[in-house]
Amino acid sequence: MRIVLLGPPGAGKGTQARRLAESTGMTHLSTGDMLRSEVASGTELGLLAKGFMDSGDLVPDSSIIAMIQQHIADPSGVLLDGFPRTLIQAEALNEALDQIGLPVDQIVYMAVNIDELIRRLSSRVVCKECQTPYNLEVDRPIKSGICDHCAGEVIVRDDDRPAAVKNRMKVYEELTAPVLDYYQSRMNVVEVIATGTPDAVFTKLNEAIGSDAPFN
Ligand code: AP5
Repeated sequence: MRIVLLGPPGAGKGTQARRLAESTGMTHLSTGDMLRSEVASGTELGLLAKGFMDSGDLVPDSSIIAMIQQHIADPSGVLLDGFPRTLIQAEALNEALDQIGLPVDQIVYMAVNIDELIRRLSSRVVCKECQTPYNLEVDRPIKSGICDHCAGEVIVRDDDRPAAVKNRMKVYEELTAPVLDYYQSRMNVVEVIATGTPDAVFTKLNEAIGSDAPFN
């Protein structure tokens, strides 16, 4: 099973992908989390990616495709979060899946209005170690500054500064919104209005995904 979660920055893809992975046993593949791990480890890819990420630009397609390719055949199934993010990446995903005879089973688009996106990103904090997202308004860690899951330090992401957020929204409209059109012209895309509490969105997602078959 391969499910793609599409949506703008702050739509809740990471929050919900974590929950879905836990409830289904599928593997959560977040290109953002993978890149942040590379940055933290100081790898060649991390050094390349950091400048793009801090300013809110996309990391070059070739690096992303090389990074993700080996993971998409995971037999547990994958929840793709943050990939594909350009038309080139969408084509590369199709080709890679064609080669191993697997389809994209479902595309879910998480729709959230811009004011809510900005509100969420400006109050987001994340665990430096396991990258679990929290929110200072609606979903605080139990102990301030400490991750509930791994006791790691909870910090503000460098790209959640206002200038980077503004650029991420622009980049999303220019380069990633066309990926939604790409899939809508080829297959059924399930749209979920991803507002309400995280629990309410999780219920909506399960209903939407269930109604489109993959977990039946
Ligand atoms: P990435 O980490 O993928 O960032 P993003 O797509 O901008 O997504 P976010 O992590 O900001 O948001 P999200 O939808 O996961 O929301 P979250 O669950 O955290 O990418 C970062 C960078 O890496 C990119 O800018 C780029 O440079 C690079 N990159 C990554 N993938 C790439 C690719 N494929 N190609 C090229 N470059 C790539 O939630 C947000 C906040 O809202 C949290 O505080 C959360 O607690 C809160 N929240 C969640 N749900 C709710 C709710 N229902 N109500 C209220 N608050 C909520």
